Amino acid sequence: FDAIGVLTSGGDAPAMNAAIRAVVRTALNIGIKVYGIHRGYSGLITDDMRRMSSSSVSNIIQRGGTILKSDRCEAFKEAPTRRRAAEILKQNGIQALVAIGGDGTLTGAHLFTEESGIPVVGLPGSIDNDIYGTDDSIGFDTAVNTAIGAIDRIRDTALSHERLFLVEVMGRNSGFIATQVGIACGAEMILIPEHPTVVESIGYTLVSNRKAGRGSSGIIVVAEGPEPGLTGRLADQLRFFGEEARVCILGHIQRGGSPTGHDRVLASCMGITAVNYLLADYSDIMIGSDGRQLMPVPLQDVIKYRKHDPRLYKIALQLHK
Ligand code: F6P
Repeated sequence: FDAIGVLTSGGDAPAMNAAIRAVVRTALNIGIKVYGIHRGYSGLITDDMRRMSSSSVSNIIQRGGTILKSDRCEAFKEAPTRRRAAEILKQNGIQALVAIGGDGTLTGAHLFTEESGIPVVGLPGSIDNDIYGTDDSIGFDTAVNTAIGAIDRIRDTALSHERLFLVEVMGRNSGFIATQVGIACGAEMILIPEHPTVVESIGYTLVSNRKAGRGSSGIIVVAEGPEPGLTGRLADQLRFFGEEARVCILGHIQRGGSPTGHDRVLASCMGITAVNYLLADYSDIMIGSDGRQLMPVPLQDVIKYRKHDPRLYKIALQLHK
């Protein structure tokens, strides 16, 4: 290749910058030009891209967010828009693409390369960790640690006032953040969409557990899940049983902040690997991690299957008092 492009799309995630940095430096070191595409797929359509130098990615490894900016681009779901994007890339002499983002981004990447023939390698960038084909996505570890830090503080109040706190964490339709955070914070209960529960029974279970001397952290971790308002309804339930319940929605604080060492290293290794696979003539793949090594996963599989890992949830259940 003479030139490649790199973009970040969908929800930003900590250490996306580390991935960009790795892509840029790896390509430049072997004589390939790199264009940073701004605002995800929107920048492909509007021709908003700039040549990157090694120093343009200096001092970003520790920064959250993405220096390339991001966007959820609805227009890219349409084939004619993707065709226009391919023409713009060709006009700029860009012959391949690294796309960093979550399932929406990787779906777009798959359709784009299938239709245009322009090679694309995807990197899993999402705090939700809901991407099939990788144990770990870029930003997940940081989001988990941010939520843990917040809950440790909330717990002080929960214990001092003997209150129950329902802490809602992000994760869209998946409970990966909630499960990890719940275990790490010693939550009394973890509610995730993969294990739907009857809301009406939860208040009763929690209150009887407490009366029996079980459960004492005062923390219930609730995954935001697909059902808006669930956390509030649960709080009402608990109040009905005479508990002093409070709701805390952690929200976007989980998306920002300086990435953990784990995320920085993962993103750096994934960025290097993405360029290496492009050079080895791979396309339509995502770089996945099995916890020990990185490997190519067909994008077709990544977007087809739902990631589900019940092991940690079972562990959480075993840890209850
Ligand atoms: O996918 C990351 C994520 O933060 C989800 O956990 C959450 O449901 C969603 O994005 C929020 O999206 P937005 O920032 O566009 O409101």
